[in-house]
Amino acid sequence: MSHSGNPAPATARKSENLKGTVRIPGDKSISHRSFMFGGLAAGETRITGLLEGEDVINTGKAMAAMGAKIEKVGETWIINGTGNGALLAPEAPLDFGNAGTGCRLTMGLVGVYDFASTFVGDASLTSRPMGRVLNPLREMGVQVQSADGDRLPVTLHGPKTPNPITYRVPMASAQVKSAVLLAGLNTPGITTVIEPIMTRDHTEKMLQGFGANLTVETDAQGVRTIRLEGRGKLTGQVIDVPGDPSSTAFPLVAALLVPGSDVTIVNVLMNPTRTGLILTLQEMGARIEVLNVRNAGGEDVADLRVQFSELKGVSVPADRAPSMIDEYPVLAVAASFAEGKTVMDGLEELRVKESDRLAAVARGLELNGVQCEEGETSLVVHGVPGGKGLGNRSDGQVKTHLDHRIAMSFLVMGLASEHPVTVDDARMIATSFPEFMDLMTGLGARIG
Ligand code: S3P
Repeated sequence: MSHSGNPAPATARKSENLKGTVRIPGDKSISHRSFMFGGLAAGETRITGLLEGEDVINTGKAMAAMGAKIEKVGETWIINGTGNGALLAPEAPLDFGNAGTGCRLTMGLVGVYDFASTFVGDASLTSRPMGRVLNPLREMGVQVQSADGDRLPVTLHGPKTPNPITYRVPMASAQVKSAVLLAGLNTPGITTVIEPIMTRDHTEKMLQGFGANLTVETDAQGVRTIRLEGRGKLTGQVIDVPGDPSSTAFPLVAALLVPGSDVTIVNVLMNPTRTGLILTLQEMGARIEVLNVRNAGGEDVADLRVQFSELKGVSVPADRAPSMIDEYPVLAVAASFAEGKTVMDGLEELRVKESDRLAAVARGLELNGVQCEEGETSLVVHGVPGGKGLGNRSDGQVKTHLDHRIAMSFLVMGLASEHPVTVDDARMIATSFPEFMDLMTGLGARIG
């Protein structure tokens, strides 16, 4: 399993005027799905802009272990897929490292096949709940062997003929929705997913692009009914992956917090299910100009010009959580420098991310002098404009719990706080944003 060796602490120090134009690596959600659907579809899929982080590479390895041919020629990943329904039994356990998305979606994709597949991961992934995906798979006829509490390692064995189900997703989770739909790809008949609260819709859009017969109906209350016809043909596609808005969040918030900054971030995915952070920061008074809005491969994309801004605390409504779920840690950092308090509600899903992000953020803020209140599903942050007194004078280290976004969020904090901020381990940043250190130091950030 990955991340062997010793933890690598990193420290960020007060910086001045971050400046420059940067391009963020490809979106993680779309990159995972590009490897999965390309690996499954008949014929050739060509991908540019793919995120080459550890999480996505593990998905690529899993698809290769199940029969997909994957190679990189120049800047393009070329995949020859098996054809829908024709994945091969993996000979060894599939190791997803730190990646919940790769693991959970692949459980859906291959779990319904009439052979055994075993899933393993690192300490973080092994501690995360898998029942949310295993339960609908059980309903489809999949036999499950799992460690206590439906944790990894998990072995799945599908039935001769999987049973198409209608599944109402009990929590706001794109991973659960997607796992059921992907299981539906190799299930005869119509698999239906009912999604009461909309989450990122990359699976739906991309499956349609690959030729799946998938429809979405949204009722007056916003409840979505997604129907997928199983065992249809998927055909290879050409995909240009736009920049990841969740990775964009780090240089973006850094530019807002470091006085004198003026940073442009190009080619950012602006799918409305992913833009909650930008909306919230704009409500806080952030100067973010959305430029050159365009459509690329069925997705909205734009360039963002971000300038230093004096922020004000706001109340973030609970129903915004799905569209900024991975961005709460860095929003909490932005809120630490805002005037007044910022209230965030509806955070229950933060407890089951790569770490318990709600607790990890609260402990990290406290360590660095920020007053905050952690509720069961909420966080209140009391800001200190200018960051006076924030950071850590001694050698206190933020505990990152193998969570890349906790590491990057607190490194952003250290760029604007009076004292440095140190994180206990920066290795995990490579799971989603291997270029983070170089990109940030290139803008003038003092991190090392
Ligand atoms: C993702 C869905 C979200 C998100 C994760 C990526 C996806 O997880 O946090 O980083 O690509 O489907 P949940 O479905 O658990 O909310």
